[in-house]
Amino acid sequence: MAPAPRHFVFDAYGTLFDVHSAAARYTDDIGPTWERLSQTWRAKHLEYTWIYAQIGQRKSFWELTERSLDFAIASVGGLGDDSLRNKLLDAYMTLGAYPEVREVLGGLKGAGCTTAILSNGDPDMLEAAIGSAGLGDVLDASLSVVDAGVFKPNFKVYDLVVDRFGCERASVSFQSSNRWDAAAAKAYGFGVCWINRAGQPAEYPDLAPDHTLDNLRPLLELV
Ligand code: LAC
Repeated sequence: MAPAPRHFVFDAYGTLFDVHSAAARYTDDIGPTWERLSQTWRAKHLEYTWIYAQIGQRKSFWELTERSLDFAIASVGGLGDDSLRNKLLDAYMTLGAYPEVREVLGGLKGAGCTTAILSNGDPDMLEAAIGSAGLGDVLDASLSVVDAGVFKPNFKVYDLVVDRFGCERASVSFQSSNRWDAAAAKAYGFGVCWINRAGQPAEYPDLAPDHTLDNLRPLLELV
């Protein structure tokens, strides 16, 4: 049997923080297209990270947050002047965490495990989200891809974890709601939990996660 993981590392956006909570705060102002806008914002945001990683150009995650929102706004026919756009960007800096996050991170730390974020987010974005969600005391580290110089799923990003903790890849449990991120982390050699909150169908059968969970709570049974 594989040893119990000691280092619990989490993707940030969509895994700890609800990216759709930004547009959800302004459903009345955006109107019935709010969900489509939010889905397009997220999809384009990720696409931009993949392309810039692939062509080897550095970009800040924040710049891509703005550009993908502008595309999403245009795709639903515009939102009037810039005030709503700016409110959505402010909301992205202070996203809500999913309800179980604090309890689970605290429980993992209480069991003697390390907890960390590993995210495409810029350090200041992660700091703001951690602060607004009140998670500072239940996280040991917040690792940003800025220190790898490339976005996920480049392996240099996953290297940040083993470099920081001086640990074996197999001692890490990596949690992501992004199936592509979970697949890459599996290929890298981490133990992987796919946090399938949205009930998505299975993908990447050759890079299956060790566990598929619909929220983070069952992690407490792994330690
Ligand atoms: C992150 C994005 C990919 O936090 O969700 O890295």
